[in-house]
Amino acid sequence: MTLTLAEMAVEVLTTADGCAKTALSHQHANAWFAARAGQTDPIEIGRADPPMHPARPEAPQLVDPRDVPKRKPGSPAGRIALLHAVAHIELNAVDLHWDIIARFADVPLPPGFYDDWVKAAQEESKHFNLVCDCLEEMGSHYGALPAHAGMWRAAEDTADDFMGRLAVVPMVLEARGLDVTPGMIKLFRKAGATQAVEALETIYGEEVGHVSYGPKSRKINKPLS
Ligand SMILES: [Fe+2]
Ligand SMILES: [Fe+2]
Repeated sequence: MTLTLAEMAVEVLTTADGCAKTALSHQHANAWFAARAGQTDPIEIGRADPPMHPARPEAPQLVDPRDVPKRKPGSPAGRIALLHAVAHIELNAVDLHWDIIARFADVPLPPGFYDDWVKAAQEESKHFNLVCDCLEEMGSHYGALPAHAGMWRAAEDTADDFMGRLAVVPMVLEARGLDVTPGMIKLFRKAGATQAVEALETIYGEEVGHVSYGPKSRKINKPLS
């Protein structure tokens, strides 16, 4: 039986392992776009009951941001710590995008809304994988260091507030990422870390698009027929 888009979103949210989560995210995004292109049967938006918190892997250990160890950004350990934090943000972003689809499935929205958010979810999945590859190339992996425990806070605070969620995800969380990425690219370029530079440039280019998906988005304002 074909899953609805909301059910697909819940599957992603309830998958703990990062690689499994992003693989499922890609698979469901591809299914959505194949249906939208008329290559397969249409996918209903449906209804689902997303968990309040997405499933997370056993590692990294989630700690208060004050307890995330600080390392000199100029050192190899510092660069690994920085990329580890980015991987954590990207994994959280995968869940944020699917969560908005599942949690607000009862809000009537045009198909273009889902195209935007499914595409962004797929790009976040790619970002997580790109950063994980960089970590592995540097002899580390996602889960090797503690990570920020408060990442889901904004999602919790806006669980009943669709417009609030639409404001906070692109215009605060994602915009913040955009602000810090150029500085990170410079830092990794200086260190000759080509793979990380390329990954961060890809991420930066795609995040510019995500920041445009706020409440003022042309597609949200379009009246529904
Ligand atoms: Fe991203
Ligand atoms: Fe994003």
